[in-house]
Amino acid sequence: MMEPLTIALSKGRILAETTGILRRAGLDVPEDLDESRKLILPGRDRRLRFVLAKPVDVPTYVEYGAADLGIVGKDVLLEAGRDLYELLDLGIGRCRLCLCGLPDLVWRTHRVASKYPRIAADYFRAQGKQVEVVYLNGSVELAPLVGLADAIVDLVETGRTLRENGLVIHREIAAISTRMVANRMSFRLKGEAIDRVCEALRGVVNGGDRR
Ligand code: PRP
Repeated sequence: MMEPLTIALSKGRILAETTGILRRAGLDVPEDLDESRKLILPGRDRRLRFVLAKPVDVPTYVEYGAADLGIVGKDVLLEAGRDLYELLDLGIGRCRLCLCGLPDLVWRTHRVASKYPRIAADYFRAQGKQVEVVYLNGSVELAPLVGLADAIVDLVETGRTLRENGLVIHREIAAISTRMVANRMSFRLKGEAIDRVCEALRGVVNGGDRR
């Protein structure tokens, strides 16, 4: 019997939509996956196995081969900078990674706050601008309001958080959505099984079957 194909899913915000797509693609997703506290959930016929990880850890599981495939946001992939194959855009979790701040952005402290310090540093390096990047874990919009930073690099989805805090977008840095990635070795050794998953998902994602 062949080893199962292990797929790392991101817990949280995108999980329900992800499992929706996997199920519509006809993949053998355990019924209790969304509610369970289990972290490893085998499919019925044992050809697939799902593991649930924090989004930020999904690239790590995939790069080390602990998972063959991973489903995670492009923001996390850009920040992680891991050596993975990006196979598919699932078209969910769409948002934008932006440089934001008060409408009259003034570079007083030359500091930028972000949950994405690597992306932020790369962005300013490419602009030839010297700024200090301060890592924050969340509610990043607070930083420019209290003088911790002049600006932030953060995700904007509806724009509501910015609006309600008097902030605006100054630059768009990247378009973000949920992607499927593969471990490089798995891609060679389990190519057929990975292709099957990819094709099934592609049918749903491109076919517009979004029931
Ligand atoms: C994300 C993001 C923004 C907000 C954007 O934060 O970091 O703060 O959502 O969404 P909006 O444009 O629809 O308002 P999240 O809710 O994940 O929490 P966090 O601030 O703790 O990261």
